[in-house]
Amino acid sequence: MDAWTAHTGALLSFRGDPGEGDAPTWDYWEHGALIVAGGRIEAVGPGPELLRAHAGITVVDHGAGLILPGFIDAHIHYPQTDMIAAGGRDLLDWLTRYAFPTEQAFGAAAHAAEVAEFFLDELMRQGTTTAQVLGTVHAASAEAFFQAAARRRLRMIAGKSLMDRNAPAGLLDTAADCERELRELIGRWHGHGRLGYAITPRFAPTSTPEQLARAGALAREFPDVFVHSHLAENVREIEWVRELFPGARSYLDVYDGAGLLRERATYAHCIHLDAADRIRMAASGAGAAFCPTSNLYLGSGLFDLAASDAAGMRFALATDVGGGTSFSMLATMAEAWKVAQLQGQRLAPLRAFYLATLAGARQLGLADRIGSLAPGLEADFIVLDPEATPLLARRMRRAATLSERLMLWMMLGDDRAVAATYILGERVK
Ligand code: GUN
Ligand code: ZN
Repeated sequence: MDAWTAHTGALLSFRGDPGEGDAPTWDYWEHGALIVAGGRIEAVGPGPELLRAHAGITVVDHGAGLILPGFIDAHIHYPQTDMIAAGGRDLLDWLTRYAFPTEQAFGAAAHAAEVAEFFLDELMRQGTTTAQVLGTVHAASAEAFFQAAARRRLRMIAGKSLMDRNAPAGLLDTAADCERELRELIGRWHGHGRLGYAITPRFAPTSTPEQLARAGALAREFPDVFVHSHLAENVREIEWVRELFPGARSYLDVYDGAGLLRERATYAHCIHLDAADRIRMAASGAGAAFCPTSNLYLGSGLFDLAASDAAGMRFALATDVGGGTSFSMLATMAEAWKVAQLQGQRLAPLRAFYLATLAGARQLGLADRIGSLAPGLEADFIVLDPEATPLLARRMRRAATLSERLMLWMMLGDDRAVAATYILGERVK
C-alpha cells in the first residue's frame, strides 16, 4: 500500500465562486493539513486534529507556506512557447508574422516532443498542474504532447488545431482528413490515464463551414470530449468573420450553428460579445477563457467580468501563451485585476485564486477530480512561499488577512513564489 503523508501548512481551497454571494465559499486553515495516499487526497482540515487522527504517518511541514490546489490554465498554446513576446501590431498581424511561421515546424515529431517537454517543465515550475492546450494543425503535435503528458501522469487536455483555409499551405488540413485524424486521436488519448481530447477548430476564419459542421457532429457524437476555440478577440477578426459567414447573427452564432456550443466547450477571449451572445453562451453551458496578459499585449480589449457575471456566463483564467506574455497564473491574476480596474470593476484576490483553480475545473467538467482539496480528489497541489523574494517577505509582514496575503502573491509573485508542485502526491518541483 502507498504510504500516507501529511502535508502541513496554511491551506486554502474553494467550494464555490467567492463572487457568487455572501456565504464564504472557501475553506481556509492557518494551520492545516492535507493527507495524501496513493495519489489521492484522503483528508483535509485543521492540522493538529488531523495529525492526531493519523498519528505515525510521514509529515512534510511546509512551514509558513500556503497549500493550494494546482493552478488550471484554461487556454494555452504549447507550440507558441518559442515565440512568446514576439511583438506584433494586433492579433491578425501577430498570427501572420509570428504564430503561423513558428507552428510550421510541428509536423516533425522530434521537434514537437522537445518543445512539449520544455513546456511541461515550465508548467510544473509555475504550479500549473492542468492546462487545456492547443497543438498545431499537425496530428503529430498532439501526439507528441499526449505522450509527454502521459509519461508524467498529468491531467492535461489537448488537441490538434483544425484549419482548412486562410493559412499558409503547411498549416492546412482538409475537412475529411481532420475527421479521420480526430477519430484516431480521440480513440487513442481521450480517457487514457488522466488525458482528455479537445476538438479544436482554431477559430472560425481558418475553418470552412464544412469543417466546423464536422467538428460539431463529432462534438455531439462524443459528448464528454472537450471543445476548444477562440471567439470575439479582436475587432478586425470579427469583421473578417462577418464577411466569411454573412448568414450568422454574430461570431458566436457561427459556432452555435455548427453545434459547437455546449458543456465542456471553452472559448478563449470572448471580449466583444453582445448581450444576446452572453445569454446564449451561458444557456449553452460553454464557458470563456479570460486571457488578460494576451488581451493587453495584443491590444485586443478588456474582458467584461461584470457583463459576463450578469449573464450567468462561466469563465476561468488562462495565460494564452504565446499571445499571453507569462506562463505564471499569479502574473495572470495580477493582469486580470488591472483589466477589472480599467472598467471600474473589482476582482477580489480570493476570486482571482478561484478563477485560477476551481473555476477551470468546473468549466472543464472535472471538479470531481481536480481544482480543490477534498477527500477523493487527485493530489495535484502546490505550495506558495510568502518569503520567495526579499520584497515579498518584507511586505507580507504587514499583511494581516488572507485576502491581503493573496493580493501580495498575485501582484508580486511569479514562479519564484511556487515553492513546490505535487502531481498525484509526488513532488515535481
Ligand atoms: N486566434 C486564432 N489563433 C489564435 C492564436 O494562436 N492566439 C490568439 N491569441 N488568438 C488566436
Ligand atoms: Zn489562444
